[in-house]
Amino acid sequence: MFAGNLLKIAFLRGKHMKKILLVLTCIALQAVLVSQADAADPKKGRRIYNQYCISCHGSEGQGDGDRAKNEQLDPRPRVHANGDYMNMIPSMRFFRVIKFGGKAMNFSHIMPQWQHILSDEQIIDVIAHIRSLAIPAYDPKLVRGCMIPVPESERQGPIKR
Ligand code: HEC
Repeated sequence: MFAGNLLKIAFLRGKHMKKILLVLTCIALQAVLVSQADAADPKKGRRIYNQYCISCHGSEGQGDGDRAKNEQLDPRPRVHANGDYMNMIPSMRFFRVIKFGGKAMNFSHIMPQWQHILSDEQIIDVIAHIRSLAIPAYDPKLVRGCMIPVPESERQGPIKR
């Protein structure tokens, strides 16, 4: 019993620590991103997106790429065009997910990691492109926070063919 409770506490702590670490890395990454955001090049970002991301996320960021459809990916690739959701999320969270993969945010491992393929600068460029896909348009004033959960409607089931 006692050991069980101890384990439970240790587990909760672990979860808690993970959250704190997430928030801290988010803050640390934000400093890097803010200093580099001006240099971001959405045109370069579009080329990277078209090469590596379009197959799942679709050309206009509708989450309807060929792989999303053919492989019936579930959860579906994020709809980058959904400004109502995307505009609330700080760029450093996208940076984290793109660099280290979906699992870095407890998202699906279907979202690959790109740290061995894309440089940090390229990731920043691709985020600038993703921002340009948002409807309504992205405005930094809309950003809310790192830990904003993904609405269930965004993750539900594979997309229809
Ligand atoms: C094999 C398919 C696949 C490819 C290729 C892919 N993604 Fe994803 N991506 C996903 C899926 C699936 C999710 C949703 C994960 C979830 O909700 O658990 C996702 C989620 C995301 C998110 C959401 C982060 C958030 O905080 O909501 C971003 C940003 C993203 N992808 C960017 C990219 C970029 C940039 C590329 C190309 C460099 C890329 N993805 C390539 C499948 C893919």
